[in-house]
Amino acid sequence: MSSSPKARAAVILAAGQGTRMKSPLPKVLHPIGHRAMLDHAIDAAEALGCERIVVVVGDHSPQVRAHVEARLGTGAIAVQDPPLGTGHAVLAAREALAGFEGEVVITYGDVPLLKATDIAPVFGGEGVTVVGFEARDPTGYGRLLIDADGALEAIVEHKEASVGQLRVTVCNSGVMAAPADLLFELLAEVRNDNAKGEYYLTDVVGLARSRGAVTRSVMAQEDAVMGVNAQGELAQAEALFQRVQRETFLADGVTMAAPETVHFAWDTQIGAGTVVEPFVVFGPGAVIAERARIRSFSHVEGARIAAGAEVGPYARLRPGADLGEGVKVGNFVEVKNVRMDRGAKANHLSYLGDGTVGAGANIGAGTIFCNYDGFFKHRTTVEAGAFVGSNSALVAPVTIGEGAMVGSGSVITRDVGPGDLALGRAHQQAKPGWAARFMDAMRAKKAKSK
Ligand code: UD1
Ligand code: CA
Repeated sequence: MSSSPKARAAVILAAGQGTRMKSPLPKVLHPIGHRAMLDHAIDAAEALGCERIVVVVGDHSPQVRAHVEARLGTGAIAVQDPPLGTGHAVLAAREALAGFEGEVVITYGDVPLLKATDIAPVFGGEGVTVVGFEARDPTGYGRLLIDADGALEAIVEHKEASVGQLRVTVCNSGVMAAPADLLFELLAEVRNDNAKGEYYLTDVVGLARSRGAVTRSVMAQEDAVMGVNAQGELAQAEALFQRVQRETFLADGVTMAAPETVHFAWDTQIGAGTVVEPFVVFGPGAVIAERARIRSFSHVEGARIAAGAEVGPYARLRPGADLGEGVKVGNFVEVKNVRMDRGAKANHLSYLGDGTVGAGANIGAGTIFCNYDGFFKHRTTVEAGAFVGSNSALVAPVTIGEGAMVGSGSVITRDVGPGDLALGRAHQQAKPGWAARFMDAMRAKKAKSK
């Protein structure tokens, strides 16, 4: 029997230019489900149990470098400059992996849908193991040449392939693993005398075979290994990602009448029994408990929604919105960095920013928390059971005490004590009969002018 599983490391290639994206943002930083493709690739490497992860970056994109540094530290970066091919790219990681003796898996920063479960069988081989897939259209991919015994003979790149080889539809996903020492020995032998003048990583298979090392392939689904080179593929990968998300939520007991119209982020959480109506968009950081209802056309990002709460239609919950049980946030209400306690309500046309709304408090239509003085943000506190009349402006910092009332149309600049009524508006004047006299006079004037 073999000994305990070997240690694992990952080399993630991200040094390509990504010119076909035609975007000022480096390719691998484009998001899928609101998370950079590169982070999805790092997630997969972590889920595979890789104790060391090295990202190969180009000298041309300081943004990618900064991104990796922020997540994994400087030790995780290898620079390849200039990019001379995938084999050359992996060699660039050699120093960063100095002293590592286990198995190394190579993945790409532009393959965002890769899941650890799909490619875990790549480990555990003696020699080189390649993850292959059956391509609907093999154009452009390296082909896996498999011998009569099912062993992998070589990978031939599309540009180097013979007419017969071009008919092969089993393709190289790009994911490959080998023991570190073998991998770097083989890479040192790779030459660039080929159609592209590049050092092909794929050549290590043939080189391994010729020295008698074991070479094999394991299969994955095409969708799981799809690469993104252009905006169309980014959109396609996003669509695949969204499909998986909605299938997961439906399976977990979320009710959606038109799931294909709901957009999720990579980290969206939704509890069982919650209803998500058509055309809801979740940005990152949305955590929704059970039995809540998110009505159509709402946008929810960085927000928590407790059990039984109701949001929308047309609500916008921004980061720090924290809705307690049974809270209601209705149409055209924006909530940012505000905790609303159990049963509080803001049903229509309001902006609640930076503050708290106590249990059972009612925020009338058109209420604004005036949180910004042009320089600093200030907090508004509405205590439990308070009632804020429609069209009120609460100028922060300000507190509306427990059970207090604010008359409709008030501009509140000073604290309101518990149980008090505050009125901050012009007095109404009454002029009996004035309107009737005015209208008679005007009608007469108009008749005369004809
Ligand atoms: C590669 C494989 C091909 C496989 C295909 C799967 C090689 C020679 N070919 O081809 O067999 O079917 O992927 O999508 O490996 N990169 C660097 N530095 C470089 C060159 C590339 O970091 O010098 C990175 C790119 O950023 C990219 C990845 O490596 O993430 C793949 O490079 P790419 O040029 O797209 O390879 P393909 O021609 O698609
Ligand atoms: Ca590619």
